[in-house]
Amino acid sequence: MKGTRNIFLVGLMGAGKTTVGRQLARALNLRFEDSDRVIEARCGTNISTIFAQEGEANFRAWEKMVVHELTAEDGIVLATGGGVVLDMDNRANLKARGYVIYLRAPVEVLVARTSHDRGRPLLQDTNPHLRLNQLYKIRDPLYREVADLIMDTNNRGIRVVVKELLRRLDRRALLPSNPLPPT
Ligand code: S3P
Repeated sequence: MKGTRNIFLVGLMGAGKTTVGRQLARALNLRFEDSDRVIEARCGTNISTIFAQEGEANFRAWEKMVVHELTAEDGIVLATGGGVVLDMDNRANLKARGYVIYLRAPVEVLVARTSHDRGRPLLQDTNPHLRLNQLYKIRDPLYREVADLIMDTNNRGIRVVVKELLRRLDRRALLPSNPLPPT
């Protein structure tokens, strides 16, 4: 392990980072963080409003700052936003400061999972299938670049995915030997 007991989840919108991350954190007795929720708390508004009022570039600046801070912690499971890997410094921080899991799912599954969601500005006013396909092409190599483990979720349920992840983490002796006390 890389000196810390952090686990970072990366992947496209709808991959299940937040849901899987939350359950993984519970199982490992680690704290769960979601960079988008931290950004929203700092800005006092939601992601869609930040995109609409400040633009994507400003959102990315917030994201970079928050990811820099959160990855410097120890003993967390962090669900990142899908675009986190676009920035070189974010990629370096993720790689150096924790164990990175890339949650992968076919684009069709991502489309289905995000179809009723109004909170993802990059998927509004556009064909979500086309957009997710474009994002997949650009980002898949970047997710792979930072990943220590690639987990294909396909259409499997969250519990199955979490169980499989715990098994694979255990096999690599990555489960923390001294879990943090529950908060
Ligand atoms: C984004 C993904 C979102 C959020 C923002 C931008 C992206 O997070 O950070 O809307 O660029 O893919 P999720 O991946 O949690 O939906």
